Amino acid sequence: MKAAEAAVANMDASAGIEELEIGAARVSVDEKAMINCRADLNQLVPFKYDWAWQKYIDGCANHWMPQEVNMTADVATWKNPEGLTDDERRIVERSLGYFSTADSLVANNLVLGIYRLVTNPECRQYLLRQAFEEAIHTHAYQYCIESLGMDEGAVFNMYREVPSVAKKAAWSISHTHILSDPTFATGTPEADQQLLRNLIGFYAVTEGIFFYCGFTQILSMGRRNKMTGVAEQFQYILRDESMHLNFGIDVINQIKLENPHLWTPEFKEEVTQMILEGTALEIEYARDTMPRGVLGMNAAMMEEYLHFIANRRLTQLGLVEQFPGDKIPSRGCRKSWISKREEFL
Ligand SMILES: [Fe+2]
Ligand SMILES: [Fe+2]
Repeated sequence: MKAAEAAVANMDASAGIEELEIGAARVSVDEKAMINCRADLNQLVPFKYDWAWQKYIDGCANHWMPQEVNMTADVATWKNPEGLTDDERRIVERSLGYFSTADSLVANNLVLGIYRLVTNPECRQYLLRQAFEEAIHTHAYQYCIESLGMDEGAVFNMYREVPSVAKKAAWSISHTHILSDPTFATGTPEADQQLLRNLIGFYAVTEGIFFYCGFTQILSMGRRNKMTGVAEQFQYILRDESMHLNFGIDVINQIKLENPHLWTPEFKEEVTQMILEGTALEIEYARDTMPRGVLGMNAAMMEEYLHFIANRRLTQLGLVEQFPGDKIPSRGCRKSWISKREEFL
């Protein structure tokens, strides 16, 4: 204990801070930046990006846990051979197969890649909240799979074994590799574009397009009074995901604003291509999961919906719509799938 007391008495409180270029100085708002910021990242205030802090507060206000949802009716429906049609069963299996690993991919990318490279404490505060929400989502899928007594090995390996699921997962993973390399650093235009590529790949495509078909299908099932527990879990997840998407779009646009040299014509073309690839993959998933009409929808309707979503993502990023004239399916049609509150645009 004596040695410990002596160590505490002789402790240099400035040790460790010297690695910050501005040292122990108080941070002013002007020094804060989304990327490549040299100011002390341990000082949360003064806020520069109020929208990020507000999203953190809103995210916390939405807190929920999977076990709060009663799954009894779902278990009865799932175990009853007459409970669901084969097409409906396929949708439940594919959704849980895709999402049970997709949220892990998103969480890993956040924690191992994005968190280190986004150099703003209020954004990091939201990223920590989002990372926890992704853990809750993975928990929710695991809880559904376990409650229904599904073959866990088959469901958790679908992202490697079923082509329409595996291609979406592979597309997301291909945008993680570089960032999760611990030696990767931003600071050059090429590296900063690499970070933007990752943010667009995860927020605008993975969370902004790849979640679309599965969410709509499961919510539509809930509206028909089938698998209402799974549908309720998906409703809570959707509420979180809407915020993840909006946060991501704000982050991307703020980085563009602060670093306009990154947003070159070539890069804009590449990003447009990324959105189109994501749309094509989701259309393929819609066709695979809906070989016939089911739950008041079919693959052609979903394709039209996804064109609208692609246009919307492009516009949100300040890019040109690629499906001009493609309008969202009428509210009357969408009303049979999802409620107005569940619209995830
Ligand atoms: Fe999620
Ligand atoms: Fe998310």
